[in-house]
Amino acid sequence: MKKISILTVCLTFVLLSVSSCYYDVEEELYPGDACDTTNVLFSNQVSLVLKNRCLNCHNTNNAPAIGGGVDLDGYAKLKVYVDNGKFLSSITHDGNASFMPQSANNTKLPSCDIAQITAWINAGAPNN
Ligand code: HEC
Repeated sequence: MKKISILTVCLTFVLLSVSSCYYDVEEELYPGDACDTTNVLFSNQVSLVLKNRCLNCHNTNNAPAIGGGVDLDGYAKLKVYVDNGKFLSSITHDGNASFMPQSANNTKLPSCDIAQITAWINAGAPNN
């Protein structure tokens, strides 16, 4: 009888530890691949991409000379290009706007940047 209960305890333990393996976390399975598209903020993710990849040409000072007259500096100015579809078209390269960020080989933004900006636009492009 004692043997059986020890066996039962051992079996239960083994079963519990095996079943705990079924809880997979995406970030742990694919480290570095996770892209969080929830709660994307204009003041955070969107502004960072603009600052790092776009405003060099598209700030108010440089836009006339090297940004094709397109001023994307600040929410209100960017929103014009969100509303006419050019902002999203330019980074997804769907053919309805020039390919951005402009470069010799038309390299796209990292896919996570595009996914986050798309999510922000789908949420109504709030000034958040
Ligand atoms: C090296 C300078 C440069 C960089 C960097 C750059 N752009 Fe541009 N962009 C331009 C120029 C020049 C034009 C106007 C000529 C054209 O349409 O190709 C333009 C045009 C645009 C337009 C209007 C496109 C159209 O078809 O009417 C949008 C929208 C735009 N850029 C967004 C962006 C975004 C978003 C980024 C960053 C991800 C970016 N640009 C990075 C130079 C740049």
